[in-house]
Amino acid sequence: MIGPVHHVGIAVKHLDAAIDRYRLLGLSLDFVEDVPAAGVRVAFLKAGGARVELVTPLRAESTVARFLEKRGEGLHHLAFATADIASELAQLEEQGFELVDRAPRPGAHGSQVAFLHPRSSHGVLIELVQERT
Ligand code: CO
Repeated sequence: MIGPVHHVGIAVKHLDAAIDRYRLLGLSLDFVEDVPAAGVRVAFLKAGGARVELVTPLRAESTVARFLEKRGEGLHHLAFATADIASELAQLEEQGFELVDRAPRPGAHGSQVAFLHPRSSHGVLIELVQERT
C-alpha cells in the first residue's frame, strides 16, 4: 500500500537561494545531499509531517537539467512513502502504470526510490520512496 505523501519535489536553478526562500515560509532545513546516480543535489526541508525537496542538477545531461531548460523552475514530482517498494512497483505496473525505473535505485539518505512516468498519472511524475530501515 502507498503510504502518506513523503515529499513534493521542486526543480530549482540555484539551490542556496531556493533554500533561503523556502526557509522564509517557516520550513526548516533538514539536510543537503548529492545524489550522484541521478546527477542532482537535493535539499530536504521539513514541512509538518511531509517535506519539500529542492532539486538542482549537478550536470547538464541530468533529467532535471532538461526539465529546467524546457519548463523552467517549478513543481517537478510528488513522492509517496511505501514500505515495500519492489512489490509496489510490480503491482502498479500490473495496474497499467508506466515505470520509469523497473527496479528501485538509491535516493537521498539511504532511501530506495523509483519513478512512475507522468504519461500514466495524468501529467504528474510520481516517486515512490522506501526509507532506510
Ligand atoms: Co524526490
